[in-house]
Amino acid sequence: MAEATSRGIGPVILLGAPGSGKGTQAKQIVERYHIPQISTGDILRNEVQRQTPLGLLAKDVMARGELVPDDLVYDMVAERLRQGDCESGFILDGFPRNPAQAGWLDAFLEHEFFENVDSASRGKCLPIVIRIDVDYNQLLRRLTGRRSCPVCGRIYNLYFHPPRVADQCDVDGSKLVIRNDDREEVIRERLTAYESQTKPVAEYYERKGRLVSVNGDLPVDQVTEQIFRAIESHRVVTTGPQ
Ligand code: AP5
Repeated sequence: MAEATSRGIGPVILLGAPGSGKGTQAKQIVERYHIPQISTGDILRNEVQRQTPLGLLAKDVMARGELVPDDLVYDMVAERLRQGDCESGFILDGFPRNPAQAGWLDAFLEHEFFENVDSASRGKCLPIVIRIDVDYNQLLRRLTGRRSCPVCGRIYNLYFHPPRVADQCDVDGSKLVIRNDDREEVIRERLTAYESQTKPVAEYYERKGRLVSVNGDLPVDQVTEQIFRAIESHRVVTTGPQ
């Protein structure tokens, strides 16, 4: 697993407030670098929809805009990261969400991904952490205007990126849906949880010299450009066969 990771772009962690564009930008990275997007929010929503034991535990917590307990999230993330498509890199969207999760992730990567990587190459295998910074009022508009396709996952916005036909996905014509936690009172709770619990994650990575910030107030393409530049400058120099 370690060798494959060192050949790809390595792990990419997207940090940012609710509505900052993590999901939107993750999809651009997937398209360009062909590594999977691992969105803990999407996985949890899927569990809720299927009424699995995890989904039943997470449902009310998510509806309140709070964070799901760490232990539940760890098992879910570990299971996903062990799948073969993560070997050449992956994008974490929505994880880690507090400093404890960040510490857990470092330990997990150390034991399961970097075991056989020599110390000289290790720095290149560490995640690049990209924080998308967006103004508070802009976040509110993005979240209240968000619509998503329940089939292909494409994300739209009534104000900034509306579908061609109202309420219909441009790609597969499915009826677009509003996320359960995009109601104004829940949005405020999510933004509060971000301020108190997730902001310190950026400080955690900044102390380790791994944080890059991008201006997320700009149009989608311009944010993507900044992210690609950051990834390229961190990109692993490959020596082995591709
Ligand atoms: P999660 O699904 O991770 O939600 P979030 O962090 O609140 O982020 P969002 O998905 O709302 O926003 P985004 O940054 O992806 O923005 P998007 O690209 O959609 O988490 C949901 C819940 O799950 C949590 O509250 C918690 O309960 C639980 N959970 C998840 N992970 C957890 C964890 N690790 N631990 C514990 N609990 C966890 O964009 C938003 C809108 O803006 C869209 O309409 C988009 O079209 C538009 N937009 C995007 N970029 C731009 C731009 N540049 N210009 C204009 N519009 C834009």
